[in-house]
Amino acid sequence: MGQSTVAKKVVTETPLRGMARRFVAGEDVDHLLKAIEDANAAGMNAIANYLGESVDSEAQARRAADVYVELMERIRAKGLRSNASLKFTQLGQDIGEAFLRDNLSRVLHTAEQCGVFLRFDMESSEYTQRTLDAFEDLWNDGWRNIGVVLQAYLHRSLGDVHHMNRLGAQVRLCKGAYAEPPEVAFQTRDEVDRSFVELTQLLLAEGTYPAIATHDERMIEATLDFAQREGIGADGFEFQMLYGVRRDLQQRLAKDGWRVSAYIPFGEAWYPYLMRRLAERPAYMLFMAGSIVQETPFGFLWPKGR
Ligand code: FDA
Repeated sequence: MGQSTVAKKVVTETPLRGMARRFVAGEDVDHLLKAIEDANAAGMNAIANYLGESVDSEAQARRAADVYVELMERIRAKGLRSNASLKFTQLGQDIGEAFLRDNLSRVLHTAEQCGVFLRFDMESSEYTQRTLDAFEDLWNDGWRNIGVVLQAYLHRSLGDVHHMNRLGAQVRLCKGAYAEPPEVAFQTRDEVDRSFVELTQLLLAEGTYPAIATHDERMIEATLDFAQREGIGADGFEFQMLYGVRRDLQQRLAKDGWRVSAYIPFGEAWYPYLMRRLAERPAYMLFMAGSIVQETPFGFLWPKGR
């Protein structure tokens, strides 16, 4: 058994599974709906995300589409305020573009019927062009309840922002979550932050209802300063943050009248997602590792990398 397999077994089979609840709504749609209700009650919109990526079996990819159809129908039946966000590789992009289009079709139709906006998450740079091409094909087919994600750390994103602004497509801007080489991505925090501010301003000035996805208070301040300077009101854009991350900031912005959407992941594939969130906050790791060491006779083996 590899180190990460041992670690996963330890985590999933100990009471620390509860720790995942901080960042993941639960394993099924019932849990998701409860978290969406809570977000709505706190004055926020929600973004439902069924966890999973890099699916290479058709059955699994179809199952993911089934889950999205179910969750959107139930969001509508309950009258909740929620959009949805998915990854193309979860719906079968690696199986083939034709399979992806076919599998995506009923998700798109259900989204339209249910009034749910569908956002396609951006994965590693290996997928950037394919994701943008697949998005633009859908756009050219007339779908308008869809949006893309651009990552401020990529050199190419300046051109992509201009392009999406010309198209009139809704963009979510985030810093970017994958380890990318210097040929494609800025490497320092300062460079990424500068790019984030520049792209935010372009999206606010020339784009269509952009989503500024960050928990970084400096990025949020820069966004608010620019919006105020340019006379862009709270209905011109929204902030997006991850479920369980900087809940204080989410509530404060919503109370101040800004639009905030909480990205709420759920599903059985919560383990890699939790590892990514914990990797962003080493203090949580120490807390978890300490707790697990106390509970297991052989200590704790932490998985490496993302
Ligand atoms: P940064 O990492 O600098 O964090 C700023 C501050 O936020 C930290 O100092 C801390 O206070 C707080 N913080 C951050 N992470 C925390 C944590 N886990 N726990 C507690 N506090 C934390 N990426 C991608 O590549 N493709 C995508 O499609 C998306 N989609 C997406 C949607 C939404 C709604 C969000 C918010 C983010 C994404 N991302 C993403 C992830 C994004 O690229 C990025 O990795 C994270 O948001 C962290 O970057 P920040 O901008 O928050 O800044």
